[in-house]
Amino acid sequence: MRGDKTPRTRPRCFGTLRHMPDPYEDEELAALYDTINGWDASDDFYLRLVLSANSVLDVGCGTGTLLKAARDNGHTGRLCGLDPADGMLAQARDRPDVEWVRGTLGTVPFAGEFDLVVMTGHAFQILLTDDEARALLDGVRQALTPTGRFAFETRNPAVRGWERWNPADASEITDAAGRTVVVTHEVESVVDGVVRFSETYSGPWEQPRVTWASLRFLPAPELDELLGDRGFVVTERYGWWDRTPFTENSREVITITHPLVPSLPAVPPADAR
Ligand SMILES: C[S@@+](CC[C@H](N)C(=O)[O-])C[C@H]1O[C@@H](n2cnc3c(N)ncnc32)[C@H](O)[C@@H]1O
Repeated sequence: MRGDKTPRTRPRCFGTLRHMPDPYEDEELAALYDTINGWDASDDFYLRLVLSANSVLDVGCGTGTLLKAARDNGHTGRLCGLDPADGMLAQARDRPDVEWVRGTLGTVPFAGEFDLVVMTGHAFQILLTDDEARALLDGVRQALTPTGRFAFETRNPAVRGWERWNPADASEITDAAGRTVVVTHEVESVVDGVVRFSETYSGPWEQPRVTWASLRFLPAPELDELLGDRGFVVTERYGWWDRTPFTENSREVITITHPLVPSLPAVPPADAR
């Protein structure tokens, strides 16, 4: 298992994209993802949860690092990674001992199948509106077993993490072919909690490759309102990956929650009754 890393300052999540290339669909950029986002304390946190659950759905699984690590660490139950991006799934699919599904909870409905649903790497921040977040929560609820839990994190807007996303904080990586790639971020706007920024990859290409993204920074009370609205109750809330309790100045809003009332079983078709 990879070692713990210093806290990330760069955005792990590229969010919703306006221009090509899409770093999640583009296989060359997706191939850089694991090098840019090495194993860290958040992965340790989620791995422990995954290993304690029989069946796990990773929504926005990306390259599948978490579920692969779970298998490597002896998980013998169902592990399913769901992601809409072919580029990321191409990286994940080097491991046939995990189930990989292309799509979102809106396009691939699961029914009471998982003890644990996770959404890691700040993927929840891709949901830019209350309606998108509500739809996601409804899908999670539908996917969970009656005693299932949902664990995810979002960055705390109070600490204004996006102020560290600037070209001076470039990171330099080496790709699988040994070539140097420099990755920089630049924030374009911050409007109503939605941060719009560019991510630029300078490397072995004729021109740097620029992607655009938006991520939503949701204050914890507003997040809890949305959860409550969709019937979820928060059972654990941390501000950092070592399970430090959340305070208003915590960098992360780490949430473990479950539906107060599980989804009702789907009504069987008339001819089966
Ligand atoms: C920042 S990556 C996180 C990947 C992985 N969870 C991790 O921690 O490394 C966000 C992932 O969410 C996926 N994604 C984008 N929109 C999504 C949606 N509506 N539902 C689920 N996943 C989505 C992207 O394709 C991408 O792989």
